[in-house]
Amino acid sequence: MTELHQAALDAVSAAVGSAGDAQQAAERAVQMLARHLPDYTWTGIYVLDGNELYLGPFVGRPSPHTRIPLGRGICGAAASEKASIIVDDVHADPRYLACSIETRSEIVVPILLNGDVLGELDIDSDKPAAFTAADRELLERVAALLAPKMAASRIPPSSHP
Ligand code: SME
Repeated sequence: MTELHQAALDAVSAAVGSAGDAQQAAERAVQMLARHLPDYTWTGIYVLDGNELYLGPFVGRPSPHTRIPLGRGICGAAASEKASIIVDDVHADPRYLACSIETRSEIVVPILLNGDVLGELDIDSDKPAAFTAADRELLERVAALLAPKMAASRIPPSSHP
C-alpha cells in the first residue's frame, strides 16, 4: 500500500475500533476513506438482507440504487462471487448499474465473516481506472475490521433519499 493508503487504514482502524456499534463503525469508515482518498468520489456500504443488498451509510451524491438484488450490478456480482471486483471502465461492463453520470471506475469488496457475506464496500470514482491493488488491499482490510461489528449489530437502511 502507499503512504496515503496506510494513513487511511490507520484512521479507519482507530475510528472503527472506538465505535459503539456497526452503524457508527460503518459511518466512520466511509467518512475516513472519503476524507483520505481524493479519488473516492462515492464511498458507501451495502448490507446483505436475504437475496438483496440495501444501502447503508455513504458519502457522496445520493444513489438511486438503494436496493440491489444479488443477480444485478457489480455489487450483486461481488456478493454472489464473494470476491472483490475492480472495474476500470464502468461503461465497458454490461453488469454496471449507473449511480452517477460522472462515474468512470468502481471497486466493490465483500465484507465476509467465516465465509458468509454480511455486506460490501462500494467505491466509485470520477477518474478512469482509479483503483489499484493498493485500494483492494486497503478495502479488504477495512472489510475485515467491519465484519465483527456487523455480525454483532444491524446497520439500518440509509435514511437519505
Ligand atoms: N454501480 C453499482 C451500483 C451502486 S452505485 O454505484 C452507488 C453496481 O453496478 O452494482
